Amino acid sequence: MTDADAAPRSVGVVVVAAGSGTRLGAAVPKAFVRLAGRTLLSYAVERVVQVPGLASVVLVLPEGWLPGEPGYDHEISRHLPAGTAFVAGGAKRGDSVRNGLERLDPACDVVLIHDAARCLTPVSTFERVVAAVGAGAAGAVPGLPVVDTIKTVDAEGVITGTPDRAALRAVQTPQGFDAKVLRTAYASGLSATDDAALVELTGHHVRVVEGDPLAFKVTTPEDLAHAERIVAAGWSP
Ligand code: C5P
Repeated sequence: MTDADAAPRSVGVVVVAAGSGTRLGAAVPKAFVRLAGRTLLSYAVERVVQVPGLASVVLVLPEGWLPGEPGYDHEISRHLPAGTAFVAGGAKRGDSVRNGLERLDPACDVVLIHDAARCLTPVSTFERVVAAVGAGAAGAVPGLPVVDTIKTVDAEGVITGTPDRAALRAVQTPQGFDAKVLRTAYASGLSATDDAALVELTGHHVRVVEGDPLAFKVTTPEDLAHAERIVAAGWSP
């Protein structure tokens, strides 16, 4: 049996969209920056709702941008399933994930954590992650081979090592996990730079599945211009 044949599971998705996006230099939080007239968040949500087996969605939004607040993006209501939960984010991404997990339906056995800033991530990427967890992986993240040679450096910028490029992957989201594994990792009191690293710290193996160049994160004005060119070229999910 291949990963793609794995039985569908009950999937919950936490979309983290509470970051400020300082590096983008926009007047609004990054997820609310517009791309061809629509927010990055609305593109992300449009794809999330197509995930097979989807049972629960939580949107983690900045204070002031929740439903009933002045910043709320009514466009997303058009896409969201009934029962979608909303919660305010925290100071760091990990805090926002934790807040989202608390609101996710406890019946979900697969949990995906997705950055709204990776707004053009195709549904097929979500499917590969869900399939890997459905096939028994504790966690699965999309990743791409690294094209540049990567160096480690010390505080003075002197190179201290050159990791074998063949063993490196640039990872993306959605990051998917067995729900119990992820909840236990968040309850551990440990902290890490991403959800996969946290799960690794609690002793589980996390697999990398094939990522997609379209799952890039909008971070800088150049990334936004890249996303605009993709949308203008007529790309659709
Ligand atoms: O800042 P960065 O681009 O790495 O953030 C990745 C994702 O995490 C974004 O979608 C952002 O909105 C979200 N985030 C969050 N809460 C924070 C920081 C980031 O939800 N405190």
